[in-house]
Amino acid sequence: MDRFPRRVVVLAVVIVSIVARGSSSVGREGQKTNEPTPARTQEQGPTREAAERMIKAAEGGLAPVYAPLAEEIVERLALADKEGVGLDLGSGPGTLILELCQRTKLHWINADINPHFFPYFFRKAQELDLGGRVSAIQADACALPFHDAFADVVVSRGSFPFWPDLRRGLAEIHRVLKPGGVAYIGRGLPERMPPEVARSIREGRGEGPKYDPNETERQLREHVKSLGIENYRIHRPRLNNPQGVNYGLWLEFRKAGP
Ligand SMILES: C[S@@+](CC[C@H](N)C(=O)[O-])C[C@H]1O[C@@H](n2cnc3c(N)ncnc32)[C@H](O)[C@@H]1O
Repeated sequence: MDRFPRRVVVLAVVIVSIVARGSSSVGREGQKTNEPTPARTQEQGPTREAAERMIKAAEGGLAPVYAPLAEEIVERLALADKEGVGLDLGSGPGTLILELCQRTKLHWINADINPHFFPYFFRKAQELDLGGRVSAIQADACALPFHDAFADVVVSRGSFPFWPDLRRGLAEIHRVLKPGGVAYIGRGLPERMPPEVARSIREGRGEGPKYDPNETERQLREHVKSLGIENYRIHRPRLNNPQGVNYGLWLEFRKAGP
């Protein structure tokens, strides 16, 4: 906690107290599943109702996603013994953060544009005795409220389709990462999830907005190259699996440095 900048903690407390006094409402993610469409989310804005819908999805149909995804992230990025600060951009209910907390020593920050998630997020963290390991701050992924080289790790699941400018968001992630820091940004499901489980998640969430994973991969590659990021990989879990389940795609990159 010593390593954690005090002003972020203060900001998080301020945000939570504002939210606790009450205000308005937000949303879900998208694919051939039930996550929210960008257009819909933009229409609704960061509302309490949208937060409630996403919380319901995270506790319901999407619940099997977070633990295996956290395992996969910890292994791929070699986070088990890493200390410092991790950011989850658009963490929403923060379910992924809570899984990551239990597998790493990092302090995790839920940086989401919708502050209506934060009371739920902190309550869940307290229930798991992880209260001192997490913070939250209202943040637009395309204009992050962190100084350069702030974070050791940045992750994000299912949020980038809603960012107003994907290249800008990736540039922000690169800016706030420490030299040598790593990012894992994507949408969808972890490789280690068996296809039967993946299929039932997709079916359970209904036919949502479609997107073209090939086109998204092309855009991600174009953006990372234009940002001068050389050390990167795109993961396409279980591409062409016989069940035809879309597992989405993930961009992993490391900022140049020591
Ligand atoms: C589909 S939800 C995913 C939530 C969470 N990552 C998960 O997988 O359970 C998309 C999230 O992105 C957030 N979001 C949308 N636009 C954002 C932006 N510009 N900056 C940060 N967060 C954003 C939403 O508020 C929401 O929490």
